[in-house]
Amino acid sequence: MRIKPIIRKIIELSGYTVHKIDPDNPEQREEVYDEDGLRSVHNHDFMQDPLFRVAYQRGVVANERDFNWHWRVHIGLWAAYSASKLEGDFVECGVNKGFLSSSIMEYLDWDKLNKTFYLMDTFYGLDERYISEEERAANILSKNVRGKYTNNPQSVIDNFAQWKNVEIVAGAIPETLDAVQPERVAYLHLDMNCTPPEVAAFNHFWDRLVPGAFVLLDDYAYRGHKPQKLAMDAAAASKHAQIASLPTGQGLLVKPAGAAAAT
Ligand SMILES: C[S@@+](CC[C@H](N)C(=O)[O-])C[C@H]1O[C@@H](n2cnc3c(N)ncnc32)[C@H](O)[C@@H]1O
Repeated sequence: MRIKPIIRKIIELSGYTVHKIDPDNPEQREEVYDEDGLRSVHNHDFMQDPLFRVAYQRGVVANERDFNWHWRVHIGLWAAYSASKLEGDFVECGVNKGFLSSSIMEYLDWDKLNKTFYLMDTFYGLDERYISEEERAANILSKNVRGKYTNNPQSVIDNFAQWKNVEIVAGAIPETLDAVQPERVAYLHLDMNCTPPEVAAFNHFWDRLVPGAFVLLDDYAYRGHKPQKLAMDAAAASKHAQIASLPTGQGLLVKPAGAAAAT
C-alpha cells in the first residue's frame, strides 16, 4: 500500500492541501503563491513588476493596511488597463477606503486618460434595507459590522484629491444610481458584499457598457458569497452574457460585442 496518498488524504481531511515542490530547488519554495484563499504554484511574476508594486502600494496607503490580495489587484489592474483602451468611464460600486481604485488610478496615471472615475459607496457600510432575505438569514450584517468599513467620507475625498476627474457619490445603491448617468462605461467594478445593490447596479449600467467593457465582480466566487454568485449568474444570463469564475474569488464578464451597445 502506498503511504503518500494516505498521508495526503489525512492532511486534506483537516482542511489543508499538499503540493509537490522540488526540495532541491529553493527557488520553488519562493514560487508558491499563498494568500487570500489562493494557493498556487503558477507563475505570478506580476508581483515583481515595478509598476505593479507602486500601484499596489498606493492601494495599501489608501486602505491604511495591506489585505495581501496581490492576485486580485493584478486582475483589477489588468481589467482596468484593458478598459482604458476603450471609450467610456470607470465606475466602482463599493469603494470603502479605495484600495483597488487607488491602485488603478496610480497604475493608469489617471489624469492623462480623460475619463471620469465614479466612486459609489454609502460610506457607512452595508445598508440593511438593501440585503436579501437570504443574506439577512445568514446574518451577513454581523460579518460586516460597523467599523469594518469606513464611515469617514472626508478621508476618502482626501485620498482621491490628487486626481482630477473623480466623482465620489455617497449614499446607498440603488438610491444613488440615477445620479450617475455616464454615456459610456468601459469598466464596472461591483464590490458591495451583498446582492440587491449589485444586481441593481449591473442592470443600471448594462446599456451604458460599451462592447468589450469589463465587469469585475469582487465577491462572485469568494467563499461565503454564494447568493451573490447565483444572482449575478441570473442577471448575466438575462443579458445573454456569462461570468468567468476566477480562482482569486472574483468573477469577470466581458460585454459581448453582439450585446446591445451604448449609443
Ligand atoms: C468590501 S468593501 C469595498 C472594498 C473596495 N472595493 C476596496 O478596493 O477596498 C464593500 C463596500 O460596499 C459598500 N456598500 C455596501 N452596501 C452598499 C450599498 N447598498 N450602497 C453603496 N455602498 C454599499 C460598503 O460601505 C463598503 O465600503
